[in-house]
Amino acid sequence: MTGEPEILGESLPFDEIVHLESWRGERVDPDAYRRAHSTSVRDSLSMWESLAKELDWQRPWTSVLSDGDHPNVAKWFAGGALNLSQLALDRHVAGPRRNKLALIWEGEPVGKDGNPAEVRKYTYYDLWREVNRLAFLLRNNFGMKKGDRMAVYMPLVPEAIIFLLAAARLGVTFTVVFSGFSAEALASRISDLGAKLLVTVDGLNRRGKQVGLKEIADDALEQARTVNQVIVVRRTGAPDTPMKAGRDYWFDDLMRGVPSSARVAPEPLESEHPLYVLYTSGTTGKPKGLIHDNGGYAVLLHATMKWAFDINDGDVYWCPADIGWVTGHSYVVFGPLIEGATEVVYEGTLDFPKPDRWWRVIERYGVSVFYTTPTATRMQMRFGEDFVRKHDRSSLRLIHSVGEPINPSAWRWLFEVVGERRCPVGSTWWMTETGGIMVSHLPGLKLLPMKPGTNGLPIPGVDADVVDEGGQPVGPGEKGLLVIRNRWPGMPGPPTGMWGDPERYAKQYFERFSAKGYFYCGDYAVKDKDGYIWVAGRADEVLKVAGHRIGTFELESSIVSHKAASEAAVVAIPDPVKGEVPIAFVVLREGFAPSEELRKEVRLWVRNGFSPIAEPTQVYFVNRLPKTRSGKIMRRLVKAVAEGKPLGDVATLEDEASVDEVKQAYRGLKVT
Ligand code: WT7
Repeated sequence: MTGEPEILGESLPFDEIVHLESWRGERVDPDAYRRAHSTSVRDSLSMWESLAKELDWQRPWTSVLSDGDHPNVAKWFAGGALNLSQLALDRHVAGPRRNKLALIWEGEPVGKDGNPAEVRKYTYYDLWREVNRLAFLLRNNFGMKKGDRMAVYMPLVPEAIIFLLAAARLGVTFTVVFSGFSAEALASRISDLGAKLLVTVDGLNRRGKQVGLKEIADDALEQARTVNQVIVVRRTGAPDTPMKAGRDYWFDDLMRGVPSSARVAPEPLESEHPLYVLYTSGTTGKPKGLIHDNGGYAVLLHATMKWAFDINDGDVYWCPADIGWVTGHSYVVFGPLIEGATEVVYEGTLDFPKPDRWWRVIERYGVSVFYTTPTATRMQMRFGEDFVRKHDRSSLRLIHSVGEPINPSAWRWLFEVVGERRCPVGSTWWMTETGGIMVSHLPGLKLLPMKPGTNGLPIPGVDADVVDEGGQPVGPGEKGLLVIRNRWPGMPGPPTGMWGDPERYAKQYFERFSAKGYFYCGDYAVKDKDGYIWVAGRADEVLKVAGHRIGTFELESSIVSHKAASEAAVVAIPDPVKGEVPIAFVVLREGFAPSEELRKEVRLWVRNGFSPIAEPTQVYFVNRLPKTRSGKIMRRLVKAVAEGKPLGDVATLEDEASVDEVKQAYRGLKVT
């Protein structure tokens, strides 16, 4: 692999060590950690087993790791039974955390003063009672039981968390669909999963405006026929929300009929029972539904909340991720609650009504552990330091980032401006598939010397490495592919790894290094002389826009579903805030001529038909796209043109003029 490794044009400071004056925990040097890590990998099963023993099980396991029914789908803690709502609630309610604050939820502020219109606080007892009541309702009135499926299409309101915990209590496998996704995206996920219940809201608050969501859900249900019951949580109170008699029910009406004393015992779920399915973009048009189990997943969350976040009872933890993403599942809903933490949950965006939102929240609740993203950090850097400095951040003691590579200057800003050089700042690497953090600066509760922008070293028991095409570890400073060589709890689970598609699961992750049985992550990375891993971006055709994963093919499918478009090629170009953004090259159908209007229309089409996140920042019209002789679009060449880089190997290119065409279109429109 060629090219100097960089993140957003900044070279990687492999040798720069940033010292932290005080850290209450242990420190470790990279060599010593690597030695301990090798031992942990050799004996990972006994390590995971002893972590599992720290959780409450309804029935002990008979085997720590065993084969599932499909290749590469493993069973963790088979024979064992547990329940994540029991871990997250009952066991705290039975002890001294009973009246501890679990959630501090803040609604998006109305008015210009920036004060929240609504704050709701739930102790562990409150949350436990509400989850019991909801589980009672779902079981008794909606007939929901273990093995049924439920879809959740909601913004970040407390009810969303309560629904997830109630589903976990009953063993109802859920999928959350990000509330910014379109009806089509919702419909395809509902149908793939065969969900029979949909939970949504009347509408959501977005930057001072109210946006109807129920209407979109209704559109989706025109296409997705498996759902026969819908529960609607009242969020905006919009008076004209459409409700279909016999199918749609208001949550508050339903809950009024459930007594406070309603209890549902946590269902004993087999460790490998699917807790949820989360859809994420891959390299084909169809999103992949990754399955996470109960037992292995709980153990990984327990381990990483401790190791990477050092969470304890004195902390106020905050991760602003939406529940639509895996971070919201692992590190908003399940991880912090399993650990009995107090956490902040915030409904709004970081810059509404003013760019100081997050710092106000941190100040107001004394947030101590903060989990952010590179894009959010770069946005805040643009607003300037004053918004940060005006607010007291002395409660902060640990900061992590996730979702995309963090460029060294954004890392420095978090370290110097936000954390005032007091807090370790890390960039935890993981992905929807891994279920939880795999690589960290604070991998095993011990702090490694920090470097701006690195991910650090793999957590104990996880054998992640950077390898060449042949699967051999790369040398210091060399670029390669990130793999995980062994099995870890929290990996995609039974029955099929990917919902309904064990073949695709095996092909996607295990074919590339099939001889060695490695899990292929799809990222490229560099390893430095200390063994630190620096993930620099995706190695496949997946884009990372503001940390969100978007498949090029999915985006192209959305474009060509527009009546004017016959073919499209989407590539990413670097963006100083969002990391990268998509641009599209589109071939028009007969009878359509390029125009500024059509360009706007295509962008809007993607925005409304797929997701605002995926909207191409530019649309270029061309007469043909570079293709191989067998007709495959050569995105690599399109990308090289957009980046002004050499084309590389063009032996398989069918028609060279197509590249000139892309060049002209790009230059013609490019704003310099
Ligand atoms: C992809 C996974 C992990 C939860 C949110 C994203 C990129 C993630 C980092 C990081 C560099 C990162 C990778 C990965 N990524 N964290 N700290 N440094 N890259 O989950 O949507 O499944 O995306 O995000 O490219 O493969 P996801």
